[in-house]
Amino acid sequence: MKSLIYIINGPNLNLLGERETNIYGNITLKDIEKECMKLCNSFNAELVFLQSNAEHQIIDWIHQARETNCSIIINAAAFSHTSIAILDALNTFEGKVVEVHLSNIKKREKFRHYSFISTRADKIFMGEGLISYLKAINFLF
Ligand code: DQA
Repeated sequence: MKSLIYIINGPNLNLLGERETNIYGNITLKDIEKECMKLCNSFNAELVFLQSNAEHQIIDWIHQARETNCSIIINAAAFSHTSIAILDALNTFEGKVVEVHLSNIKKREKFRHYSFISTRADKIFMGEGLISYLKAINFLF
């Protein structure tokens, strides 16, 4: 059976390429999607690439993922540091969960050092921009 990966992106990541380019660089979310799609194709895996600024939408996608036999790669963005609700949703999910961040949250402001998502994640990749996402995909194979 073809494997299935959900990549879920949280708030403000739709503005990549315009937003705080000193931290996140010039890459857009569309660029990240394209590269992730290429890598997934090379593994013959199906990719569902999602972004929302709304916490409830991210929770609904995790619930939807429960109905499939997929793995989740998640960059919950600022919700990583605040959302017990997203953590609770991930805790209902039985597949693999990989947390990613473009920047290294441990080397930024103190309020970013803690991630609720990390308590559930099977693996975490951060601080390498697009490469964080590609390493997350590679980890699943
Ligand atoms: C981020 C890091 C978060 O602290 C921040 O709120 C983001 C992006 C990252 O990918 O580096 O929006 O998740």
